[in-house]
Amino acid sequence: MIAQILTSPLIWLANYAMATDETLNSRRLAFDILRNITEKKEPLDVAIANGAWNYPEMHERDRAFARHLITTCLRHLPYLDTLIDGAMDKALEGKNLGTRNWLRLGITQILYMKVESHAAVHSTVELMGNSPTKGIRGKKGLANAILRRFTKDAERILEKSKNHPTANIASWLRERWLKQYGLKVLNEISIALLAEPPLDLTIKDQTQQGSFAEKLSGQKLGTQTLRLNSGGDITRLDGFDDGAWWVQDFAASLPVLLMGDVKGKLIADLCAAPGGKTMQLASAGANVKAVDVSKKRLERLDENLKRTKLEAEVVKRNVLQWMPDQPYDGILLDAPCTATGTMRRQPDVPIHKTYEDVLRLSEVQKNLLEHSFKYLNIGGTLVYCTCSLEHEEGEEVIKNFLENTPNAKRVAITEGELKALTPLPISAITPDGDIRTLPSMLSDIGGVDGFFISRISKQGI
Ligand SMILES: C[S@@+](CC[C@H](N)C(=O)[O-])C[C@H]1O[C@@H](n2cnc3c(N)ncnc32)[C@H](O)[C@@H]1O
Repeated sequence: MIAQILTSPLIWLANYAMATDETLNSRRLAFDILRNITEKKEPLDVAIANGAWNYPEMHERDRAFARHLITTCLRHLPYLDTLIDGAMDKALEGKNLGTRNWLRLGITQILYMKVESHAAVHSTVELMGNSPTKGIRGKKGLANAILRRFTKDAERILEKSKNHPTANIASWLRERWLKQYGLKVLNEISIALLAEPPLDLTIKDQTQQGSFAEKLSGQKLGTQTLRLNSGGDITRLDGFDDGAWWVQDFAASLPVLLMGDVKGKLIADLCAAPGGKTMQLASAGANVKAVDVSKKRLERLDENLKRTKLEAEVVKRNVLQWMPDQPYDGILLDAPCTATGTMRRQPDVPIHKTYEDVLRLSEVQKNLLEHSFKYLNIGGTLVYCTCSLEHEEGEEVIKNFLENTPNAKRVAITEGELKALTPLPISAITPDGDIRTLPSMLSDIGGVDGFFISRISKQGI
């Protein structure tokens, strides 16, 4: 597959042993992206898209190197900072973030990308010397000395890091996950978050899962997903132009699967954009109303529906102000959350989110759930989900809701159901009968995003 050949590490490693204009530009692009994430607080995908504007002529191989460098750096960020702080006589203050970012990228190449050491040091120092920022130019000698030390010590550092398997997790999350999941699972999650995740596609027509598995050399997962090695330009893959599939992590496809047979039913997909679950519902024959507050994200939902030739009624509205004329047979509420379950693909999440966000969003989730439930038919099913690993955004939202809503009843997910739909371990079902997936589940084939999913029915009073 052309897309994967272009991003083959062997090709770029041979190239990146030399400091050519192309390889320097690619590293400069990685620096621009990291700066926009750490200083302007742009999310990774936005920073990558914005960074690309300055390098319109860049070869796909060099863009792929920049993307790989930045994601590898973000996956190891807390540990890289520990190493940098340990290597300095005097701490790098906040205003030296530019120098820190260059060191982060330089050490990433030396320790984790097997880039030839001389090339990693030389290119970093040269680029720092050409920086428009005086403070960065002034630190190039220091960076040279530090990076050279890392090249000599790389093996020892990597060996020693095995004693700190969770050092790649931001401290605020490490403490929380230790309490929530225990040390063994925390270690497993940490390891899972270091790996480049695969690319999951949801196939529009389930009967085509097998033929696409052959065409794209993918692995079938569950009833509708195809797993490919990650990397490259997805628009070049067979079936993209025809809208035969869309990108969706396997775990993200579970909430709709757990709604059961939706054919011909009236389903409200709340917080719907960019529409992964809307397309699933529409392809399963549901009559879908998709509601989201974000104009920009709804534009993407519209594009997705157009490409896949699927239909849904799309409404731009704050769900808290949404008051439909009629109740729904089913409601899917994919509530906004901290997204800590998606860190395999968004390793920048801990830079942007804090514990205060967990608390703030859990209040939003409670309000959204309470409001949505009003518009569910008696006997209907509501599925609540978030892609967060934080209990406040999953288990506790549902506990609070069930305690305060007498006509709401959890419909526990059974082992038989899970087995029929997924290869996930039975431990994905919580003692209460909800689903809690972790990035470390199915780790032998590339893991899954962390999701919480609960299914509730409405009783007559
Ligand atoms: C987790 S994303 C949804 C992903 C989507 N369901 C999918 O499968 O592609 C959460 C969405 O909630 C939307 N959102 C946040 N607050 C909202 C609100 N009060 N009303 C409606 N939509 C909201 C955001 O714009 C965002 O698109």
